[in-house]
Amino acid sequence: MSDHETDLVALVMGDQRYEFADAGMKQVVDELTRMARTLLPILILGETGVGKEVAARAAHHLSPRRAGPFVAVNCSAIPAGLMESELFGHQKGAFSGAAAAHAGYFECASGGTLFLDEIGELNLDAQVRLLRVLSEHKIARLGSTTERRVDVRLVAATNRDPCALVKAGVFREDLYYRICGATLVIPPLRHRPDDLSRLARQFVSVARADLERDDAKVSDAAMRSIARHRWPGNVRELKHAMVYAAATAPGDVIERSHLPAHLARRDRPASSAQDPEPDEPLVFRSIDDEIDELVERRMRQALHATNGVQSAAAALIKMARRTFITRMREFGIEPVPVRERRALRERGTES
Ligand SMILES: Nc1ncnc2c1ncn2[C@@H]1O[C@H](COP(=O)(O)OP(=O)(O)OP(=O)(O)O)[C@@H](O)[C@H]1O
Ligand SMILES: [Mg+2]
Repeated sequence: MSDHETDLVALVMGDQRYEFADAGMKQVVDELTRMARTLLPILILGETGVGKEVAARAAHHLSPRRAGPFVAVNCSAIPAGLMESELFGHQKGAFSGAAAAHAGYFECASGGTLFLDEIGELNLDAQVRLLRVLSEHKIARLGSTTERRVDVRLVAATNRDPCALVKAGVFREDLYYRICGATLVIPPLRHRPDDLSRLARQFVSVARADLERDDAKVSDAAMRSIARHRWPGNVRELKHAMVYAAATAPGDVIERSHLPAHLARRDRPASSAQDPEPDEPLVFRSIDDEIDELVERRMRQALHATNGVQSAAAALIKMARRTFITRMREFGIEPVPVRERRALRERGTES
């Protein structure tokens, strides 16, 4: 293994192995490992496709209850009317159509981990019951007054901002505070450059092996296009793009032209021997994406210049304070804690 490779951390679950080279992700894996050993609920936040389910499975495998069941439930896939009975079970005759008694997901996960994906989609009735299970460790099936003890570790995930859900009144504040103690935030792929290039190569190698073809190298130009894309679909989007490129490249080099069209750089005319103008984009992309990138960069710079004081940073770039705060969440910009802000100011950077 090269030095670079020895610098990886990995989450291993059976024959599945997920590797991370990015410094931020190594910290996330470290936190996850520590959280997994406790029996506290874990809340996993991050954009779509960043690896929240991978982290949830790892939380189970790294926990003392790894020998128990891991039950994954996508809350957005359960019809609202069936949510409580699916999660907590029902007695025979509890409602029309309840022809037999039914154990809910909580009972199925007993002794193990219940992963509630897209927890923001739980309706308010199910949230009340969930809060009760978390505090009392007991459930009553619908239509029954008998309470049963359940021993379940909860891992929940959402790609939405839980505070915004609480503010909007669709997520109970008391439930949020019950589950937010151990919160894990998985950064978007565009903020993980070391993972991006490594995973791009890895997905190509795996896809070529699946196709029973020789491995292919990713050209430097293709890698530059990959580095420039925003990857709104994160690791999932990268995986699909690289599987596509691995299949369409006829030889053993993935060129820019083999990437999905929205990633490939627009080729310069053959006659142009010079580099493009400094402000000419190497690849034409959605102008909205470019504007977003500029907005995010300026917000970060303004926060840096004002030692993390959000109202001052917003004023510096003449953005409404509320908009600034909303966009910080959107871009995943972490607020600087008050204590650190003070330390920064005291270091003599006060303006
Ligand atoms: N480090 C990694 N190495 C290899 N594959 C990875 C890695 N991280 C994530 N993936 C893959 O990326 C894809 C998306 O991961 P996952 O389903 O965990 O994302 P998610 O955050 O739960 O997405 P969503 O919000 O859409 O449910 C999966 O195919 C997963 O196997
Ligand atoms: Mg998921």
